Amino acid sequence: MEINIRPEEEKDYRRVEEITRAAFGYSDRIKRGQIGRPYEHWMVHELRRRDGIMALSLVAVLEDGTIVGHIICSNAVVKKENQSLPVLNFGPLSVLPEYQRIGIGGALIHAMTGRAKRLDYGAILFFGRPEYYPQFGFREAEVYGIADAEGYNYPAFMAMELKEGYLKEVCGGRYFESDIYNDELNRETVRAFDREFTNG
Ligand SMILES: CC(C)(COP(=O)(O)OP(=O)(O)OC[C@H]1O[C@@H](n2cnc3c(N)ncnc32)[C@H](O)[C@@H]1OP(=O)(O)O)[C@@H](O)C(=O)NCCC(=O)NCCS
Repeated sequence: MEINIRPEEEKDYRRVEEITRAAFGYSDRIKRGQIGRPYEHWMVHELRRRDGIMALSLVAVLEDGTIVGHIICSNAVVKKENQSLPVLNFGPLSVLPEYQRIGIGGALIHAMTGRAKRLDYGAILFFGRPEYYPQFGFREAEVYGIADAEGYNYPAFMAMELKEGYLKEVCGGRYFESDIYNDELNRETVRAFDREFTNG
């Protein structure tokens, strides 16, 4: 199966949100009464408006033009004392359930990191599945001496340098991502947004 990776365009927006919603099983969670969090399809929608980097919002497309996967990056920082170092965050990463485990997620990650290097970004930090991402070169952020905003480290908090040594100067620092990812802030807005989708 041939998969093409290209930047997301405006005409793709709703399809990408639907894919994200399906990949993260949002409708199943609603059925189980777990409507509290998280809200990945809303995050994608909102990231396009603030903090998202559209040059690093990429879709995976089948030969017939059908979009089956998506990845998006956003601006984040590592702070240490009076220093604030720009870094990339990424996520959500979504592959439509029926197209998972055939390499599409990996292809999106490789395309994203390749583009990010060409755009001169120095490092990527994010929270994700610790069993999936190390195969692409991500390591625990602790290796670089960087903690989350509250000062903690754990396997789901990962990092990768795109330029060797980029994170050295903020060793001992803390990581701050967009507050888009703080769903408690946005709970009611998100519920209203989700009503535009069918729950099937
Ligand atoms: C996680 C996700 C993006 C992976 O994309 P994918 O296209 O299915 O993954 P790939 O085919 O590139 O996977 C390559 C390898 O990674 C491993 N892998 C894939 N999904 C995995 C998972 N969920 N957990 C652990 N390992 C995984 C497997 O070893 C796989 O190779 P294999 O199928 O030969 O065993 C996709 O399953 C998805 O959209 N899941 C729901 C949303 C989600 O969890 N997003 C990530 C949040 S951090």
